Formats: sequence, C-alpha cells, structure tokens
Amino acid sequence: MLSLADIEQLFARHGGEQYSGEPVTQLEHALQTAHFAEQSGADDQLVTACLLHDLGHLLNHQGETPTLRGIDDTHQYFALPFLRGQFPDAVLDAIKLHVDAKRYLCQANDDYYERLSDDSKRSLALQGGVFDAGQASAFIAQPAARDAVMLRQWDDLAKQADLATPSLAHFLARAAACATRPRP
Ligand SMILES: [Fe+2]
Ligand SMILES: [Fe+2]
Repeated sequence: MLSLADIEQLFARHGGEQYSGEPVTQLEHALQTAHFAEQSGADDQLVTACLLHDLGHLLNHQGETPTLRGIDDTHQYFALPFLRGQFPDAVLDAIKLHVDAKRYLCQANDDYYERLSDDSKRSLALQGGVFDAGQASAFIAQPAARDAVMLRQWDDLAKQADLATPSLAHFLARAAACATRPRP
C-alpha cells in the first residue's frame, strides 16, 4: 500500500514524464484534473480521485505513447491495490470507472467522441470502444458512475500547456483529509 509520502515520491520521480500525446507532464495532468474538480466544488474524495486517477501510468511503465503500439496499460485498475486501505472506496471506484466513463460519454453525448484527443481516441478502441445503449445504462446505474463521469470531464480538460494550478502539496493535503489511515 502506498502512503501519501510514497505518492509524493512517485510524482517527484516520474511526474515529469510526458503525458502520452499531450502537451502536459503526468504531474501537470494530475494537478489540472484535481484543480478543475476543486473549482467545481468537489469534495476531498473526488478531488483525490482526480489527483490519483492516472497513478497507474506512473506505476506501470509502458514507455512513450503505448497506444501507438496497440497497448492498453489498464491503468485504471493498476493503482487500485496500492491505494486500497489508504483511501475510501469512493476514491478507488471513481478511479476504477474513469475509463468506462469515457466509453459511456461517447454513447451518451453525440459530440463527445469528436472532442477527444487523438490519444484518447486510440486508447478508446483498445479499451473496448464505445458502449452500446445497454452497456451505458448498466454503467451509469453503478453508485460511483456519476463521480467517474465528472472526473472524466475534468480529465479531458486537463491537457493544457502552462495552466497555473495549486501545488501537489495542496492536493496531498486534501488527500490526507479523506485518507482512511493517518499520515505516516
Ligand atoms: Fe486515465
Ligand atoms: Fe487522465
């Protein structure tokens, strides 16, 4: 299980890596996603899920733009065992469902697919593609699905070069506020 100090270290060590096909680093993408959530008044759990939603990319290195090599790194699941016990299920479930939220939004919103970045379009195909109507209804009926859809929409915005955000320390404090274990 990762402590908050471990998470801080992970971002320090790997956060400078480029986010595949986007003009931001992994750390900038995480901070921007959490920032948009915070600006929308999201609670500590959802802000924390936003901060950590792509932690799987930092834990499971597949090199530059794996989608170009036909690889789905299943990053939405990869981080979960490292976070379980440290954060409540609401945080884990929003992370787990953020890829399916994209598959859902493509079905639910006519223009959503067209607004996706090229890398997101490539990964969508590898992740199983757009949900059909039945899959979309089953997805959105899950308790954490609404949070995952909100996360996903902030995630899509969080690819902006040179956007000012609060610091990692600021968002780690919000993570500490909802951690189920005390800070080490
Ligand atoms: Fe992701
Ligand atoms: Fe993301």
